[in-house]
Amino acid sequence: MTRIEWTDDLSVGLPEIDEQHKALFALANDLVAGIERGEGQTVLRDILTRLREYCFFHFDEEETYMQDIGYPKARAHAAEHALLSARATALSKLLENGESIPAEGAADFLEAWIFSHVLKEDVALKRYADAQG
Ligand SMILES: [Fe+2]
Repeated sequence: MTRIEWTDDLSVGLPEIDEQHKALFALANDLVAGIERGEGQTVLRDILTRLREYCFFHFDEEETYMQDIGYPKARAHAAEHALLSARATALSKLLENGESIPAEGAADFLEAWIFSHVLKEDVALKRYADAQG
């Protein structure tokens, strides 16, 4: 599995949100590291708790920002946030019910979401904000 690295070209221009994105990358990388140590199941529980907390405050902040700047694609963007939140909640419930979840599948989903969302949608948001001056 691969580690994902935050680079300056992923900056959305707001230091607070950049720091939160870095935390999301770290979270995904911690899951990959846990899987590599053979502790995927144990680590997944902790990761999902962190991910749910993350979704709660980070998405709220980003969605408020989109409203503040009148971002025209705010609803579609927020729908992608909701997808990750719903997946994190669903996986947590499965774990609580004693189901075992392949940690690799969760890591693949999280990384795919980060690549499609942070690298495309959040960068598009920055471009819009920049164009507004
Ligand atoms: Fe976003």
